[in-house]
Amino acid sequence: MKSPNTLTIRRPDDWHVHLRDGIILNTITAHTARCFQRAIIMPNLVPPVTTRALAMQYRKRIAESLPDDSNFTPLMTCYLTDETDPQEIQLGFNEGIFAAVKFYPAGATTNSASGVSSVSKISGVLEVMQDLGMPLLVHGEVTDIDIDIFDREEIYIDRVLIPMLSDFPALKVVFEHITTSQAVDYVRSQGSRLGATITAHHLLIERNDMFKGGIRPHLYCLPVAKRHAHRQALLEAATSGDNSFFLGTDSAPHSIVEKESACGCAGIFSAPAAVELYAHAFDQVNSLDKLEAFASLNGPAFYGLPANKETITLVRKDWMVPLSFQVDEAVEILPFMAGETLRWRVLP
Ligand code: NCD
Ligand code: ZN
Repeated sequence: MKSPNTLTIRRPDDWHVHLRDGIILNTITAHTARCFQRAIIMPNLVPPVTTRALAMQYRKRIAESLPDDSNFTPLMTCYLTDETDPQEIQLGFNEGIFAAVKFYPAGATTNSASGVSSVSKISGVLEVMQDLGMPLLVHGEVTDIDIDIFDREEIYIDRVLIPMLSDFPALKVVFEHITTSQAVDYVRSQGSRLGATITAHHLLIERNDMFKGGIRPHLYCLPVAKRHAHRQALLEAATSGDNSFFLGTDSAPHSIVEKESACGCAGIFSAPAAVELYAHAFDQVNSLDKLEAFASLNGPAFYGLPANKETITLVRKDWMVPLSFQVDEAVEILPFMAGETLRWRVLP
């Protein structure tokens, strides 16, 4: 069957994005606000967003960085540390400041040095969150340097997730940016208390792409892309209609200088074409009819929020992802699939 040339869906939300701060924030928020109504804002700033006061100040800076006509809503998260006070989480949730809490294992990824050293340190916080029905967002990778980087997500399931979900049987958890078939299977086995976000880049690239003709630092992110069979499992999950899986871009800009370095930063900047990239991936497996559930319905349902009322329309129209974005004289950022042609475009 020939697929149609336009697609109208409820306005989507991004359930995992890095907007950064300062001059980068001011340049990039508009990309996320172009198509998304709401987004879960990652708290891994320097210093991290660990309190209500810091979250409110950051939310204000985000609001100030938005175009005047935007009605985009940032949903703030609290960066969990061994020292987080359960009461701060409870107040933050009840006061509508924190939508969720982000659990970075210490040392797992960019700006995660002050993350959690062991689940036993945060049991008071998890108790409170379980009672509140407040989602815990986990960066699901073990950090042991002797564990192969391609195995870190799978091992995290056994070592951290299974015991934590059993100790806190009513805790709502999002397994962020999943990359493996093991994560897909585990999420499917846990019913509605465990959700998972899937990025556009993990639907489109596999680990070989990082080494195509040479090393490609702009395709390096964490969790790192895995082999073909895992990408297939992610595509299958995202397009299955299963409401445990929803959109989270993990758009994570770094300057070209930071990426093209002897020790390049992890992170892929997908915000400028986010919805189009997902449409591209869904179209490749003839599943555009499943895009709305994944992008616009499953996430709000998990978070207990209404789906957006407005819609967006995508048209089948070739266009080129910009080659780069200039933040200021010194800082330039390369978007995912820079210079490549995408087949779908969201109408302004
Ligand atoms: C993220 C970043 O740069 O902040 N990087 C990434 O590769 N995804 C951090 C993260 O989400 O792991
Ligand atoms: Zn992230």
